[in-house]
Amino acid sequence: MNYAVLVSGRGSNLRAILEAVANGSLNANIVCIISNNADAPALQIGTEFGVPAHAVASRGKKRVEHETEVLACLSQYKIDFLVLAGYMRVLTPHFLKPFYDSEAGIYRVINIHPSILPAFPGAAGYDEAFNYGVRLSGVTVHLVDEQVDHGPILAQETFPRLAEDTLETFKQRGLAVEHRLYPQVLQQIALEGVKILPRPLTDKSNVPTEAPVK
Ligand code: GRF
Repeated sequence: MNYAVLVSGRGSNLRAILEAVANGSLNANIVCIISNNADAPALQIGTEFGVPAHAVASRGKKRVEHETEVLACLSQYKIDFLVLAGYMRVLTPHFLKPFYDSEAGIYRVINIHPSILPAFPGAAGYDEAFNYGVRLSGVTVHLVDEQVDHGPILAQETFPRLAEDTLETFKQRGLAVEHRLYPQVLQQIALEGVKILPRPLTDKSNVPTEAPVK
């Protein structure tokens, strides 16, 4: 299984994924890393693990222009799934199209989001959940579709908000879940393909499938 990872910043999930590959708990190749931000610490993490790490800057570019550059960079590699790990860009249908698997009816693009979706989508999942006063929050790993933080759910795991929590301790507890869950889900996909549960359909892009994707 070949994964390419898209990042924008810190890269703690990228590190967890690369460590899982290094310690043998994730049987996959991380073929390349691309950041839309040349200053992202995540790029250094890629280099540390000997994975080709590319900066494809998005600043000052039209969305589709940047996406075309990222697709050109990715085209050097053989990729089964794209893995978003803190990639702070909304993906357009133009970008997603090459990853469409018509047999399975999915895009071969995976994301991790710091809430139990569909609660608290968007760029600040932990902050919004904490400020809302949730007693229980969590992490969602899902396939990407044309809407933000919306595609079919692959895995979810909850964690409690403790009475003494600050936003910082709440986030740390969530990140620890992310770092365990994301490599586990990627390993499950490497072994068994994608498994999603049916849900009520709003449009054709949500058509569920039982067929594993290999
Ligand atoms: C994580 O909380 C992830 O769920 C969200 O963005 C954050 C990225 O953190 N999509 P990192 O760059 O992996 O440390």
